[in-house]
Amino acid sequence: MQQVFTKAVARNIFLGSAAFFLAIYLVLTWATWRAIPRRDHAAAMTPQVVAGKYLFDTNDCQGCHTVNGEGSYFAPELDNVYTRRGPAFIKAWIAAQPTGVPGRRQMPNFHFDGQQLDDIVAYLKWLSKVDTNNWPPNIQG
Ligand code: HEC
Repeated sequence: MQQVFTKAVARNIFLGSAAFFLAIYLVLTWATWRAIPRRDHAAAMTPQVVAGKYLFDTNDCQGCHTVNGEGSYFAPELDNVYTRRGPAFIKAWIAAQPTGVPGRRQMPNFHFDGQQLDDIVAYLKWLSKVDTNNWPPNIQG
């Protein structure tokens, strides 16, 4: 019987495909590095945005909510909540918790003052402008 699949053939398949996929890997890495500066965030983090993020993090909003899909899946995505609801709704919502509506998941009241609510809204507005490559694909998140 003729030996077609020799050791040399196996080695060539291994080396050839390793080189091929290494080349693909390098091209994709290069493409990502090239795209990052274009997708970098345009809006600067103002001190108010930083203050809002601090409140967001220290009160563990992501313990229930997701931001760009990261966090807990107990409560709605907040990356695009500013676009969906607008500042007035968000402030009124946070101040009015818990709703106490039977059968609905509840959000605690954090007793934020007006300034803190403004800071959180500033952070949520900033979040809504992050270039997420059009993710999530629909507004409901
Ligand atoms: C213990 C869980 C929990 C934590 C912690 C929490 N939330 Fe919520 N949040 C919820 C739930 C549940 C809802 C949806 C309730 C409903 O639809 O009746 C909600 C809804 C919201 C909404 C309205 C979302 C929409 O799509 O209409 C906003 C805005 C919001 N939360 C902001 C925050 C912020 C800011 C924090 C942190 C300071 C926070 N939440 C912390 C549970 C939580």
